[in-house]
Amino acid sequence: MEGVARCVTCKMEKQASSARHVSINLQIFQHILAIAAHDSVVQLGGKKWTVPLGRRDSNTASSTAVNSNFPSPFLNLTGLISIFSNKGFITKETVVLSGSHTIGMAKCIGFRSRIYNETNINTAFATSLKSNCPSAGGDSNLSPLDMTSSTVFDNAYYTNLIKSKGLLHSDQQLFNGGSTDSQVKAYSANSASFFKDFGNAMVKMGNLSPLTGTNGQIRTNCRSVNSG
Ligand code: HEM
Repeated sequence: MEGVARCVTCKMEKQASSARHVSINLQIFQHILAIAAHDSVVQLGGKKWTVPLGRRDSNTASSTAVNSNFPSPFLNLTGLISIFSNKGFITKETVVLSGSHTIGMAKCIGFRSRIYNETNINTAFATSLKSNCPSAGGDSNLSPLDMTSSTVFDNAYYTNLIKSKGLLHSDQQLFNGGSTDSQVKAYSANSASFFKDFGNAMVKMGNLSPLTGTNGQIRTNCRSVNSG
């Protein structure tokens, strides 16, 4: 529920203010978000990709649409593959886009059931998370999605999965004896292929039904539809 909507918009919004390359005269927040996503990755150690510009902002906002279109951290592999496939992504792209969890944080409420109830988790890893994520309370306490290097854009996310150290249930689903295990191994062994495929998948995601021309609007405040 709290997945990609929060991930991509809020995270990138936060980082927009610090993105050094956003000095040119951009008026469209979609540009800023796309460039901020790109620049954040590059500044944190990832590889560059070309960011297509021209997207406009939506005339509407819908939490229902967000909840039905964005993945929950409680999904199993089949559900993850399906929700990405609904947007035209193949399984390999589901695996590569999930690698964005090499940076950032998640709230206790999104991984409590994993650290207390699941068995496909490294015991020491689960124990280390419990003080900051008690069995009751502390729902908003944050832990890094990649406990190895949460501020570096690298392939440690995949190496963690192989060690059963995925933070979210959905993360660990990518390496749990299923069809995506081999791709996780491949990205953990080869960061160059992760960076390359990640850039391509980000461009593909940016090209999902963009509003262009006279469609949509240019928002005055990124967070709200223009009034009047
Ligand atoms: C595979 C399906 C995905 C699920 C189930 C998922 C779920 C989540 C959840 C639950 C969080 C923590 C939010 C919080 O507790 O506040 C999170 C954080 C994050 N996600 Fe995802 N996500 C997915 C895919 C993606 C994709 C495709 C991207 C970008 C390409 C992405 C980028 C991020 C980032 C950057 C954060 C850190 C946010 C922060 O530190 O403020 N995620 N995700």
